[in-house]
Amino acid sequence: MGKRDESSCSFPMGQTAQERGLSFVPECYKVEHLDRSKMDSETVDVPIIDLSGLGDPTQKSILVQEIGNACRCNGFFQVINHGISQKTLDGALSAASGFFRMPTQEKAKFMSNDVHKPVRYGTSLKDGVDKFQFWRVFLKHYAHPLMDWIGMWPDSPPDYREKMGEYAEATQKLAQTVFELIIESLGLGPKYLNTKLEEGMQVMAVNYYPPCPQPQLALSLPPHSDYGCLTIVLQNSHGLQILYSEDKSWRVVPVIKGALEVHVGNQLEVLSNGRYKSVVHRVTINSDKMRISIAGLHTLGMDVKMETAKEMVDEEHPMGYKESSFRDFLDFISKNDIGEGTSFLKTLKIQE
Ligand code: OGA
Ligand code: NI
Repeated sequence: MGKRDESSCSFPMGQTAQERGLSFVPECYKVEHLDRSKMDSETVDVPIIDLSGLGDPTQKSILVQEIGNACRCNGFFQVINHGISQKTLDGALSAASGFFRMPTQEKAKFMSNDVHKPVRYGTSLKDGVDKFQFWRVFLKHYAHPLMDWIGMWPDSPPDYREKMGEYAEATQKLAQTVFELIIESLGLGPKYLNTKLEEGMQVMAVNYYPPCPQPQLALSLPPHSDYGCLTIVLQNSHGLQILYSEDKSWRVVPVIKGALEVHVGNQLEVLSNGRYKSVVHRVTINSDKMRISIAGLHTLGMDVKMETAKEMVDEEHPMGYKESSFRDFLDFISKNDIGEGTSFLKTLKIQE
């Protein structure tokens, strides 16, 4: 990704262009060769997984096949009839926007670039560390088990904990259900790693993307894949794009009311020995509307190593990945600039 001169950057956290609502993109945010005109019009055909048939064995086996296909093709799908009410989804989005509307001093309590902190407010990717900036503001917090973390979350707006907590618990359950189906689609026993995910972590990235009238000049998030087994994303408007595996083009992810987007993460790629690939995605800037997304990453415990399942390795499919834990990932991103084509996943690949 080509970028321009970085010398003129003077937008520290708390005073970034996106927080100040500037109506232009400063030099240190600019990404060359974005060619947005084509990308914005091409919406991706998202596999829709309808979970209403889960209780019926015949329908469930169809679901397992559908999920397996989606994971093999592009590593993403959307789920509907997942049992989480619209009220819960809307509640989480309104809690998020309520938080970002708070005065700066309220948000400043959480400001940090230390990626090991369980609750933190930040801008861009790693403001002050990365050379280039992205048009994004975020609040990240651990969420599972909820009781361990909720006391550290923002207590303003006053309903933040209740609404976000409700959403966190509901999506944690959903992640476990979806994970079981994915595991089954790999031909592993349905309980494979099941307890380890349940005892693992949920890391929520609550993202806030103010509008900007020059959306074609910069990105809100650079291309990346997510660590973890899977990520569940809720978005209030379009902006998320995935790299379509067939022709390597960027495609817009449509917003379907009530649906949740699921991404295959790095840990699942490792577990499946590359049969399922973690989806590469990015976020573009919207010119007119503020965008909010909540990306919940589900990973094994902080120090639990994810390794390739023995069943996925044979003569035709030699072991392709090294094991890693969430802490290994955090240590990596604390030292590396993610926006420059480096990825943690690359470091896990065993070169032949
Ligand atoms: C992320 C992410 C997607 C979005 O936070 O990792 O990819 O739609 N977010 O904001
Ligand atoms: Ni992501």
